Amino acid sequence: MNILALETSCDETSASVVSNGSKVKSVVISSQIKIHAKYFGVVPELASRAHIENINPVIAKALKKASVTFSDFPKKIHAIAVTVGPGLSGALLVGAIAAKTMATVYKKPLIPVNHLEGHLYSAFIENKSIKPPFLGVIISGGHTELIIVEDFGKYKTLGRTRDDAAGEAFDKAAKMLSLEYPGGPVIDKRAEKGNPNAIKFTRPYLKGSWDFSFSGIKTALLNYLKVNPVKNERHLNDICASFRQAVAETLCFKAFEAVEKFSLKQIALGGGVSANSLIRNMFMQEGKKNKIKIFIPSLIYCTDNAAMIACAAYLKQKKCGLNYNNIQLKPDPSLPLENW
Ligand SMILES: Nc1ncnc2c1ncn2[C@@H]1O[C@H](COP(=O)(O)OP(=O)(O)OP(=O)(O)O)[C@@H](O)[C@H]1O
Ligand SMILES: [Mg+2]
Repeated sequence: MNILALETSCDETSASVVSNGSKVKSVVISSQIKIHAKYFGVVPELASRAHIENINPVIAKALKKASVTFSDFPKKIHAIAVTVGPGLSGALLVGAIAAKTMATVYKKPLIPVNHLEGHLYSAFIENKSIKPPFLGVIISGGHTELIIVEDFGKYKTLGRTRDDAAGEAFDKAAKMLSLEYPGGPVIDKRAEKGNPNAIKFTRPYLKGSWDFSFSGIKTALLNYLKVNPVKNERHLNDICASFRQAVAETLCFKAFEAVEKFSLKQIALGGGVSANSLIRNMFMQEGKKNKIKIFIPSLIYCTDNAAMIACAAYLKQKKCGLNYNNIQLKPDPSLPLENW
């Protein structure tokens, strides 16, 4: 089954054609980072406008790469999937309208997908062997969640962040350090050259709860910088390495505590922060030590992309069928994660 998926929940316009949830025939991602960088965050209205400009060329490119012409679209594409939330309302609307239009014109079923399920199943694109149950660790720009996936579409959310998401913490830390946006990749790169033990930032383990809190690490950085302004490149790299270490250890500690407590044997990471090189290594090493299988998507599938939406849609229709009401499909900016 070939699914054409669209993703426009935040600042990436993406379209992808995926066969049977894992064979990626094309994935096109148009990033708006340059537009939002000077504001150190995504400006919703600018994001919607950029999606409007990008959506048609991105879809056309994805179809072309997958060798689908508009005339053989009805034969080659069997369903359309689209992110319906959570995300920015105007941004979501652009993808939803494009998807609805194509579904109506080509008389195709339209599968609504929760963006978090895209991140949750993104490791499945390259690993057909994962089978629930597993612990899903979503670490992105807007979310930090530990979710037990008991079965496809059957979730038990253990904990989430009480304040900043992991990615948000990286972005805000970068701003404090006068580095570029988004902060995650920049801090990650500098951290490789720094000493992770130079500064001992707090690890907010929140014992007795599965929740996270990253604003404490962020405040610890702010307080540190008040007394110790950045001296030179080496000092800056040490701060980045120490900050990254604190975030990675917190995430890893809680995730492995959860798999032990709930007797799980697999962890699947997803979301932009799972592109972090230390977090990837730390989870792999801990996994090896504790005999837990770790699944981490390739870098391209960590941040927002439509291939993960196609993958989640494929799994969803396998379990629930294709009976969705195309016309009534409505994006919801605060869509909760719901069981299928
Ligand atoms: N190498 C990295 N290390 C740490 N963080 C990273 C890295 N690469 C990207 N990020 C972070 O990932 C985030 C973007 O991820 P993603 O696109 O999944 O988030 P989002 O879609 O904006 O949020 P959500 O999925 O919660 O709606 C940014 O905060 C960015 O700083
Ligand atoms: Mg995302």
